[in-house]
Amino acid sequence: MATCLFEMKSLSASYGAGLVLQDIDFRVCGNDFIGVIGPNGGGKTTLLKVILGLVRPVAGELIFSRELRNSNNIGYLPQISTGDSNYPVTVKDVVLSGLMIRKGLVSRMNKADQKKADEVIEELGLESLAESSLNQLSGGQLQRVLLGRAIIGEPKLLLLDEPGNFVDANFEHDFYEKLRDLNQRMAILMVSHDIGTISAHIKSFACVNRHLNYHPSSEISNEQLLAYGCPIQLITHGAVPHTVLKTH
Ligand SMILES: Nc1ncnc2c1ncn2[C@@H]1O[C@H](COP(=O)(O)OP(=O)(O)OP(=O)(O)O)[C@@H](O)[C@H]1O
Ligand SMILES: [Mg+2]
Repeated sequence: MATCLFEMKSLSASYGAGLVLQDIDFRVCGNDFIGVIGPNGGGKTTLLKVILGLVRPVAGELIFSRELRNSNNIGYLPQISTGDSNYPVTVKDVVLSGLMIRKGLVSRMNKADQKKADEVIEELGLESLAESSLNQLSGGQLQRVLLGRAIIGEPKLLLLDEPGNFVDANFEHDFYEKLRDLNQRMAILMVSHDIGTISAHIKSFACVNRHLNYHPSSEISNEQLLAYGCPIQLITHGAVPHTVLKTH
């Protein structure tokens, strides 16, 4: 796996009773952009937590490439709910906190860190909000702030857990454009329920429902979803949704 970031071999994971992930073979390489789909409780968030080392596999192997071996090189945007935005911290604080993981909580942020935070804030169009506190932001703005936090360390792998939940229609286009830029320099693994929307942006799918089935194309049909044990109804915006929605 010369150019791959990690590889799972027959990996299983559990929180105690029963397996949440079972016998998974999966790898992420170079500039992959993979949509992770599956029913509620199917194990999508757990898959990301295994990659982050927050949940330990109970069987099988997870092999990291040298560049990913310390988790500094992984950016993570957690699954959030609206209640989470009620902290008395500013946009800049949150973006900067993405560097804390690599620096350790005790070390101070230096000038270079501050500069990097300003760059990321500018890259995401958040300049006018830098000193705003989180509870003043819209859902879409909050999502951009958390994306800033995930990418400030220039990771090689970006893990996004349902980033679309708060993305409003106005921001959606910008958000996926941003991801496309980022995908030039990092692999992206994005959990989403909105298969119709993401199929225009991702390169392949991973269906997770205890087992993982990899689908090496951005187009997927209801029949294939069923065959993979991913019982999700495709939202149809036309007779042939996945070709109508595909923009490139
Ligand atoms: N900390 C935990 N302790 C015990 N069980 C857990 C824990 N976290 C998740 N689970 C269980 O593991 C299974 C998979 O959960 P997970 O959160 O990975 O699913 P998911 O695919 O992300 O679901 P959703 O689409 O709702 O976010 C579920 O049955 C869930 O109840
Ligand atoms: Mg989840």
